[in-house]
Amino acid sequence: MLKVMNHPLITHKLTQMRKVETGTKDFRQNLDEIAGLMAYEICRDLPTKPVMIQTPICECQTEELSKEIVLIPILRAGLGLVNGITDLIPTAKVGFIGLYRDEETLQPHEYFAKFPNTMPDAVNMVLDPMLATGGSAVAAIDMIKKRGAKTIKLVCLVGAPEGVKAVEQAHPDVDIYLAALDDHLNEKGYIVPGLGDAGDRIFGTR
Ligand code: PRP
Ligand code: URA
Repeated sequence: MLKVMNHPLITHKLTQMRKVETGTKDFRQNLDEIAGLMAYEICRDLPTKPVMIQTPICECQTEELSKEIVLIPILRAGLGLVNGITDLIPTAKVGFIGLYRDEETLQPHEYFAKFPNTMPDAVNMVLDPMLATGGSAVAAIDMIKKRGAKTIKLVCLVGAPEGVKAVEQAHPDVDIYLAALDDHLNEKGYIVPGLGDAGDRIFGTR
C-alpha cells in the first residue's frame, strides 16, 4: 500500500526543504517537524490491547499499545527522521543500517548494521528521506526480514515512481508512506524536482 500524506502543513514544510537557499538549520528543523506529523498519522493503525487501570476516581478498562515500535534509519540521511518520531514515541527502540549508494552504478553498499532483538514481534519503521531507485530501501528491508521482522512500514519524505515500483515489486507486504510523490529520476538518479542530496543537506557536507 502506498500512502502519500497530503496535508497543508507537511507540504509547506517540505517546500521550505526543497528550496535551494534553505540552510542546514532550517532543513533539519523542517525534517524533524514533518517526521512527527507523518508519524502521528502512520501510527493511526497501531494495535492496542485492553488493560484495567485505577484512576484517582475508579477502576476502568482502557487500552494501551500492544506492540513495540522499532525505528530503523538508513544511515546517514535516515537519522534526520529519528528525533521527530522519538519525540512522539519515546519508548521506540532504534536499529541502524549503514548503506551508501555508489554514485556510478546507483547500487547500495552495506557498511553497518545493528538491530534490537525485538524486531520479529515489533512494528518496524524503516526511515529514509529519499526513495529514488528504491535500491537502498529494498536492501534495507531484505536485511531486517532476514532478522525476522514481519510488520514493516517504509517511511520516506520524497519518492520517485521508480522507487515506489521497486519496493512494491520486491516487498508487496510493506506499507510505503511518503510526504510527496515526485515526477521522475534524472540521469544521475536524483529525484526531480526533489530536494537534492538529503544527507549532504542534513549534515552540511560537500
Ligand atoms: C541516499 C538516500 C537513500 C538513497 C536513495 O543516500 O538517503 O538512502 O540515497 O537512493 P536509492 O533509492 O536510489 O537507493 P546516500 O547513498 O546518498 O547516502 P547518505 O545518506 O549517506 O548521504
Ligand atoms: N538520494 C538523495 O539524497 N537525493 C536524491 O534525489 C536521490 C537519492
